[in-house]
Amino acid sequence: MYNCAIILAAGKGKRMKSSIPKVLHRVCGTEMVNIVIDVVKKAQIEDIDVVIGRGAEQVKEATKSRNVKYSFQNKQLGTGHAVLCASDFLKDKEGTAVIFTGDSPLIEEDVIEDMLNFHNKGRYKATILTSIVKDPNGYGRIIREKNGEVLKIIEHKDCSLEELKVNEINSGMYCFDIKELVESLNKLHNNNVQGEYYLTDVIEILKNKGERIGALPVSFEEIMGVNSRVQLSEAEKVMRNRINNVHMENGITLIDPNTTYIGLDVRIGKDTIIYPGNVIQGNTVIGENCILYPNSRIKDSVIENNVTIQSSVILESKVGENVTVGPFAYIRPESVIGNSVRIGDFVEIKKSIIGDKTKVSHLTYIGDAEVGNECNFGCGTVVVNYDGKVKNKTLIGDNSFIGCNTNLVSPVKVNNNTYIAAGSTITDEVPEGSLAIARAKQVNKKGWVYKKGLRK
Ligand code: UD1
Ligand code: CA
Repeated sequence: MYNCAIILAAGKGKRMKSSIPKVLHRVCGTEMVNIVIDVVKKAQIEDIDVVIGRGAEQVKEATKSRNVKYSFQNKQLGTGHAVLCASDFLKDKEGTAVIFTGDSPLIEEDVIEDMLNFHNKGRYKATILTSIVKDPNGYGRIIREKNGEVLKIIEHKDCSLEELKVNEINSGMYCFDIKELVESLNKLHNNNVQGEYYLTDVIEILKNKGERIGALPVSFEEIMGVNSRVQLSEAEKVMRNRINNVHMENGITLIDPNTTYIGLDVRIGKDTIIYPGNVIQGNTVIGENCILYPNSRIKDSVIENNVTIQSSVILESKVGENVTVGPFAYIRPESVIGNSVRIGDFVEIKKSIIGDKTKVSHLTYIGDAEVGNECNFGCGTVVVNYDGKVKNKTLIGDNSFIGCNTNLVSPVKVNNNTYIAAGSTITDEVPEGSLAIARAKQVNKKGWVYKKGLRK
């Protein structure tokens, strides 16, 4: 049986009070429309059309990695009109079209599969995913006949007092027989409170034709729509719980899941322990047996096994095994930290390679450098990588001992097995096996303080 999907994402989302389209607001780090696309694909539906309109270029750009098709709705005349705009996509197709909205990101693939099975088994021409809730405010209501069969959907704003009491709501997610859908769309009118062409009216049109309509109630969590920032935060909470539960089931300890923020695509190895206040984003992979003490942000990075991180920021970088980072370290993009390295407090690493077993323990900046194995950086070392015009490279060989408060003025090379005296400003290459001293000699003026009468 052929299935395709249409995702409605042309609306502005007035209630978000935002300059970006609603469907591009993120839940656990991913744009809502992309979350919906990914779930639809997980349910084995590959042929996907996204209806765009408001902010069309932005939505197209944000979804381009997903390989979907697009239809344009130039004027937002309602959800029915939006599907009508996908007529070209539906043309000559036979089978089932599944419709979702880009602002309901909590739907899961097994529920989509259940809906499709229910639709096929019941031989319905349309199936509505619904939910029975305490507070139906704002949602379309499912109106059933005495015998339980679905009669129609009425929008909240069009409900009579009696209809307002109905607590079965429309999720905005449906299965339709494609032929019946296309035929019914052409019969829609906008004779309602909002003056819109409602997709929901297709149900009554089919019913009046004598067709069978199915309605499958599911948990409200699956279908929650996001129309405001408050609802966005509620969706985030549900999604966060789901993500964190999966990690805990996989053998990761989260000391407080309510304050642990892990993106949808993050992978974590078992026996890793995560303390509160960690934000782990993007395509980050964290190994086994790591400890993330409170308050780090890690984005698009690979952290290998047995790493300890505390109150630090790591962006687009790789950190090897048995490394300790922080507290208060900043590892900036394109850095590669080797195995058994120590990156200590108030250390900034930018676009640099740090060799195995090297220690950069305190108050140091390393930028645009390649550092060998088993080096030791004294407190307060600065790689002077910028001359005001261009960034220059610094090369440091294995077993280099860089004394405290050294400046390494780039471009410069420090060879293997070298020592640099504390307080040096290194501007020339340091040959292998040498000690470099580059600082003014100390002069002691004996008795100077007493002669000046400054102390008795
Ligand atoms: C819609 C349903 C309502 C259901 C609710 C579930 C209709 C008429 N109402 O109401 O029964 O309970 O969803 O969340 O369908 N969109 C377009 N073009 C348009 C209008 C909307 O693409 O012209 C898109 C929006 O971008 C959004 C989705 O359709 O992603 C839903 O639109 P929205 O205005 O939020 O509909 P609701 O009022 O929530
Ligand atoms: Ca909505």
